[in-house]
Amino acid sequence: MTMPSPQASGNSYTFDGTASARDRRPVGIALLGYGTVGSEVLRLLKSNEETLEHRIEGPIELKGVAVSDASKPRTGVDPELVTEDAMGLILRDDVDVVVEVIGGIEYPRKLVLAALEAGKSVVTANKALVAAHADELARAADEHGVDLYYEAAVAAAIPVVGMLRRSLAGDQIQRVSGIVNGTTNFILDAMDSTGAEYSETLAEATELGYAEADPTADVEGHDAASKAAILASMAFHSRVKFADVSCEGITQITAEDIEAAKEAGYTIKLLAICEKIVDASGQPAVSARVHPALVSREHPLASVSGSYNAVFVEAEAAGNLMFYGNGAGGAPTASAVLGDVVGAARNKYLGGRAPKDLTYAQLPLAQFGDVPTRYHIDLRVHDRVGVLADLAATCASRGISLKAVRQEEDYEVNGHRAARLILVTHTAREQDLADFVANLVESDDVLEVSSVIRLAD
Ligand code: HSE
Repeated sequence: MTMPSPQASGNSYTFDGTASARDRRPVGIALLGYGTVGSEVLRLLKSNEETLEHRIEGPIELKGVAVSDASKPRTGVDPELVTEDAMGLILRDDVDVVVEVIGGIEYPRKLVLAALEAGKSVVTANKALVAAHADELARAADEHGVDLYYEAAVAAAIPVVGMLRRSLAGDQIQRVSGIVNGTTNFILDAMDSTGAEYSETLAEATELGYAEADPTADVEGHDAASKAAILASMAFHSRVKFADVSCEGITQITAEDIEAAKEAGYTIKLLAICEKIVDASGQPAVSARVHPALVSREHPLASVSGSYNAVFVEAEAAGNLMFYGNGAGGAPTASAVLGDVVGAARNKYLGGRAPKDLTYAQLPLAQFGDVPTRYHIDLRVHDRVGVLADLAATCASRGISLKAVRQEEDYEVNGHRAARLILVTHTAREQDLADFVANLVESDDVLEVSSVIRLAD
């Protein structure tokens, strides 16, 4: 019997059919970054080595770990493997798959592009990088016949990228709505259960380690917007970038908003919503947006508590599906990274490529003003004759239809006898609703508009 020997064939390796997995030249892995995620990736690589090799159908070998300061003491990694020369590691001949878990945009972009251009497949957990530069990265992967995987970039362990790229590839997706940021879900959920104000709850989330010292990217919705861009691109086969996503965070949500939502049978969630709409010219377009929304307590997304994430998908044939779990953290993110490493390494051995980014539909982006939405408006008005008649006239002039109006009396605003009005509109164009609210703010009947929150249908 001849001993099988691996032969390099382009970027894949072909073997004699009798080769056992262990006879194959190992697929070389370069790990870029050794923080919370990188250290978990390495721990799982080591502890699951044997099962991973069965699933890959060949051995893998860690060739190096690139860090910014190699002199820092580290556990769980052989110091011989640690290097500050990330580019040198990527370009080594025995490195086949590059795992990027550094974070940031410009530096990892340079490294990931260099890896793809050198014929290495890339696995990244970097949502900001993918949401900003997916076109450029996907083009480089295509030109060099290698894979670009990023399951961990959206909701970590929840397999939403694979679900959209593979499982639902035969279906037509109508809408994807997700709770894709754990920090904001933790804060909103805590406000809902304790009745506390936003700033108090944020302080508690920071103390417990749920919110970062600088929580801006989470609470302003930027993290969720990156994920929305990725989800919308995959769901509608059209490129949507971070800058295309309209984004509002949770910093304006008050304890009073939460209480009013509760009274009406809703909870407030920060949603990433990606949908195909018909725009003002009657053409299909993609809308991707992030904003707080009132979610009916009956809806499955309402039950997503604490720092958990969930993605709710509405598809023509599959119907409604919900994917729920850990959307952040070292081990859950590493789980998604390792799944991608298995795919990339298998392709190196067996040939073939991962499903790639397809943007054939090239749908235009909807203007946010054209998106159909519904508003829940909480306002204080003078308690006097004719106010409701004026309100009805303003609605009629703007083409806004009200679904429900609730009035409570005995309020006082700046010494004026006031009534509280809660208006729930029917679906209308976002811009028409925004103009309607602007009219309310200017109206002599209105003392204050306390809150305006969109409803998730
Ligand atoms: N900071 C994010 C969250 C996790 O709170 O969910 C990483 O995207």
